[in-house]
Amino acid sequence: MQPNVIITGATKGIGRAVAERFAPQSAQLALVARDPAGLEAAKSKLKAAAPACTIFVYPCDLSEKSQAKRLVEQLSAQSNNWQLLVNNAGLYLPGELLSEPDEALEQMMRVNLFAPYYLSKGIAPLLSGKSHIFNLASVASRRVYPGKSSYSVTKFAMQALNDALRMELKERGVRVTAVLPGPTWSATWEGAELPEGRLLQAAEVAEAVWNTYALPANAVVEELVIQPQLGDL
Ligand SMILES: NC(=O)c1ccc[n+]([C@@H]2O[C@H](COP(=O)([O-])OP(=O)(O)OC[C@H]3O[C@@H](n4cnc5c(N)ncnc54)[C@H](OP(=O)(O)O)[C@@H]3O)[C@@H](O)[C@H]2O)c1
Repeated sequence: MQPNVIITGATKGIGRAVAERFAPQSAQLALVARDPAGLEAAKSKLKAAAPACTIFVYPCDLSEKSQAKRLVEQLSAQSNNWQLLVNNAGLYLPGELLSEPDEALEQMMRVNLFAPYYLSKGIAPLLSGKSHIFNLASVASRRVYPGKSSYSVTKFAMQALNDALRMELKERGVRVTAVLPGPTWSATWEGAELPEGRLLQAAEVAEAVWNTYALPANAVVEELVIQPQLGDL
């Protein structure tokens, strides 16, 4: 069966790579991000590579509760038959907890925790068949890194959200996986003077997500930890 898939943060980085990996195997893709032009550009490229997949775009600022709730309404109106929700959109603001403005943690909580919370609650009743929720957590869900204190707080919380969702959805046959990538090339790493192979490529994370989804429905990868072969930074 070709799934219907929702991906947040689908225009760049890991979300875009997941969209590229799933598009040829999917009936419908719903792409979410803030920038409408970025969404249209992603849609065109995906459509060229996977002409049989129907692609919808939803401009939405997930840091706003009202917009996240409206997105759930739009997705519900689009279909009551979704198989995958990929909570990927995330925000990283570098800083130290004791010296940063309060707004840093507050803003990251809105994108990294509250948005997946609203979306998962809203979409869970619409999941059917071999269905799956992926939450893009991080190796910072397990360990606090210097300069990433508040980010780690939000990603630890996301890991708990992930595990709570799995507990509450398992009897309905919905699998829930936390994806914990190590450093992965994206805009965040622009300017870092590192050899290309020292970081993961977004496509490698996307391949791991696909393989996790492709497992028989009886098996769930609860945590997918993926690092560059040379290890963490
Ligand atoms: N890259 C890494 O090293 C790394 C490592 C571990 C975990 N992660 C996690 O993996 C996920 C993806 O990271 P990435 O590095 O691939 O991201 P990225 O390249 O920065 O892309 C972020 C995506 O999310 C969208 N987005 C950002 N804020 C949004 C908002 N408020 N509402 C809706 N969409 C929003 C962006 O589009 P717009 O700007 O148009 O909204 C874009 O499509 C994140 O959850 C991140 O924390 C990343």
